[in-house]
Amino acid sequence: MKILLTGARIIDPAQNIDSRMDVFLEDGKIAKKGANLSKSLKSKDSEKTTKIIDLAGMILVPGLIDMHTHLREPGFEYKETIASGSAAAVAGGFTSIACMPNTNPINDNRSITEFIRRKAAEAALANVYPIGAISKGSAGSQLTEFWDLKEAGIIALSDDGKPVMDAALMRRAMEYAYSLGLPVISHCEDTNLSGAGLMNEGYYSTILGLSGIPGIAEEAMVARDILIAEFTNTCVHIAHVSTAGSVRLIREAKKRGLKVTAETAPHYFTLTDESLQSYDTNFKVNPPLRSEQDVAAIKEGLSDGTIDVIACDHAPHGRTDKEVEFEYAANGISGLETSLALSLKLIHDKILGWPELIAIMSVNPASILNLPKGTLETGADADITVIDPLLKWTVDVQAFRSRGKNSPFNGRQMQGKAIMTIIGGEIKYDGQ
Ligand code: DOR
Ligand code: ZN
Repeated sequence: MKILLTGARIIDPAQNIDSRMDVFLEDGKIAKKGANLSKSLKSKDSEKTTKIIDLAGMILVPGLIDMHTHLREPGFEYKETIASGSAAAVAGGFTSIACMPNTNPINDNRSITEFIRRKAAEAALANVYPIGAISKGSAGSQLTEFWDLKEAGIIALSDDGKPVMDAALMRRAMEYAYSLGLPVISHCEDTNLSGAGLMNEGYYSTILGLSGIPGIAEEAMVARDILIAEFTNTCVHIAHVSTAGSVRLIREAKKRGLKVTAETAPHYFTLTDESLQSYDTNFKVNPPLRSEQDVAAIKEGLSDGTIDVIACDHAPHGRTDKEVEFEYAANGISGLETSLALSLKLIHDKILGWPELIAIMSVNPASILNLPKGTLETGADADITVIDPLLKWTVDVQAFRSRGKNSPFNGRQMQGKAIMTIIGGEIKYDGQ
């Protein structure tokens, strides 16, 4: 199918483009960009075979990429399937997602990787890129077969959900992964420090009587992984940064020229631990929501380039996982369908400009994961997100495509939404 998208503001930070143009898609690729392309179409009499979509007032960007999604298949299909998670992704404006290996069984061998890819192909919605486990069963003692997993199609390695507590194992993982060109994504948590903690350690944990997780539980591990990356001359990507101390460590590491990249999630720049006063388990997440000072530091880290990526950490759970005593509730927020609107708030609040935000949500994750995505250059895959920047809407978890209705943002007023998601030149979501 040929598609002509007319009248939108095109923002492609990969090519330094920010202007009003038409975009013509053919054979699944970006074929042409320019002013008034409809005129040249008419002259070639190809009008009948081309779908023309008027996008006046809209913003058209390279397809958003979420590099930290938990799909729950195999094993926890009641929380999410590869199909329902893919549907949530395109509804949230994401054309590509990378899925964490903490399924059951864990994605620590090629048969699980192949299963995920097969299911994703059947769903035929978002591009789904599996992330393989660093250690067998993510148990932290034996490395998985990196080469075999790479051949099966993983694009990165992580034991996310759990840290790699053994520093020697992490060292070997980083060395071996680097030689294979696979990024290592680190869930930074010293479990001896986080212990049985349920929320951020501070004023609110004290008054609520809930055991705390100190910021240092994350920061000690961030520091360790930076040191290992430096010692081995390899790279590491720090997942879900939540504290001011982590931002400072990553900023200093980058200043010293180390190959460290980092992501945060929308809830870490939107919410604080004060929300836990409601004892609503939808606010329970790992790492936990932190203090106001931490939120300010995360925003600063995004604005000065210390934090490269906003990732959802989409962690869907069922009612039976969340509607229990706080202590027993699962950690996580169903994030794919609210991430863009929460991130657009950074533009409204003048923390980021449009090109910076699109770099953080598309160009940078593509580059960290070595994906041939994140650009609208001629010949690239026609993966496109169309955003209505002014659309006002209210979050309704019952309307989520995700099976995970666990969102602390239910009922919140938002401004800005993806209204169309195009992947490989095909419209996969049309919310117009
Ligand atoms: O809140 C979280 N949920 N943090 C994690 O690290 C894992 C994730 C999950 O898998 O539910
Ligand atoms: Zn994690």
